[in-house]
Amino acid sequence: MTSDPAPVANAAPHLLDVRNLATRFATAEGCVQAVDGVSFHIDEGETLGLVGESGCGKSVTSLSVMRLIPTPPGEITDGSVLFEGTDLQTLSEREMRRVRGGSIGMIFQEPMTSLNPVLTIGRQITEALGIHLDLNKGAARNRAIEILARVGLPDPASRFSDYPHHLSGGQRQRVMIAMAISCNPKLLIADEATTALDVTIQAQILELLQSLCEELRMALLIITHNLGVVARYAQRVAVMYAGKIIETGAADEIYTTPRHPYTKALLSSVPRLDAITTTRLTSIEGEIPDLVNLPEGCAFAPRCRWVVDRCRVESPELGPSGGSHTAACWEQDRIDHDRLAELQQS
Ligand SMILES: Nc1ncnc2c1ncn2[C@@H]1O[C@H](COP(=O)(O)OP(=O)(O)OP(=O)(O)O)[C@@H](O)[C@H]1O
Ligand SMILES: [Mg+2]
Repeated sequence: MTSDPAPVANAAPHLLDVRNLATRFATAEGCVQAVDGVSFHIDEGETLGLVGESGCGKSVTSLSVMRLIPTPPGEITDGSVLFEGTDLQTLSEREMRRVRGGSIGMIFQEPMTSLNPVLTIGRQITEALGIHLDLNKGAARNRAIEILARVGLPDPASRFSDYPHHLSGGQRQRVMIAMAISCNPKLLIADEATTALDVTIQAQILELLQSLCEELRMALLIITHNLGVVARYAQRVAVMYAGKIIETGAADEIYTTPRHPYTKALLSSVPRLDAITTTRLTSIEGEIPDLVNLPEGCAFAPRCRWVVDRCRVESPELGPSGGSHTAACWEQDRIDHDRLAELQQS
């Protein structure tokens, strides 16, 4: 994908610079091209939202960045993942272990599989601190309690000896965040960090992540189905569909002037921040395509109301939509024209 221009010579490198990443899985049905030429970057202290429906490749993208793709059946077949200018794919497994949980923290999509049920939460955090920060036992314990307090876990000194099953879902999520930030990462990847929680707790956790990013000058890759969440918490957004990024831009631009029909459809399926609460929400018609048998041309064409003949034969690359906004759609000007016409009518 060609949308993410290389940094100009002498400019500071992006904190994370993913270029043309491709990851596939061998399955009984055939080859699943889960990530197909994905490029994006994140700068220091910045929050990027990666959005899309289930199965579009968000988790595989983040697991590829962290080199946690199970191989086999998975395989990264192309691209580079530069972190502070170093290609993570060239590191040894030992060096990569220092990056994971060290300079890059990750909150995984499945909280119960990421916390070890037979270890106290204190032990889990101090182990991570021991690997990365070389603290003695007492100092590690103090630091762990300090971090648990920072993520808003009530009475952290006595919770230190609790096991994960003693905690509520929201508290477990706070412990996951504590583990992920315990070694002062420069980048935190949060994969659906709040989806399993009720709406009030979701908002609290997202507020917590935002304030930690500001306080620790940490960059955040926030992965979610919910475009409303990223519009609120991210500065920039990348929208994924069938393994590709199909629209990128500033969060407010994507939210107010989406140029790709898929992004428009995603927006109609979440409550809008600026809409009157009675606005009807629609689900996106049709099904996500089978990644083993992708259609010719644009993968969204079978579900698209703006489809033209060209879309069914030729796949559009990301192209400029004004400023840093890009969209992979042949008909993006017509879509924008229709949007303006709709606005005039309303
Ligand atoms: N270990 C695996 N073996 C085979 N296919 C896989 C494997 N892991 C992921 N996939 C496939 O890769 C595609 C992308 O999956 P991924 O988990 O990245 O989706 P996602 O966007 O994170 O979805 P969700 O929003 O549901 O978390 C899916 O078609 C999935 O079935
Ligand atoms: Mg996922």
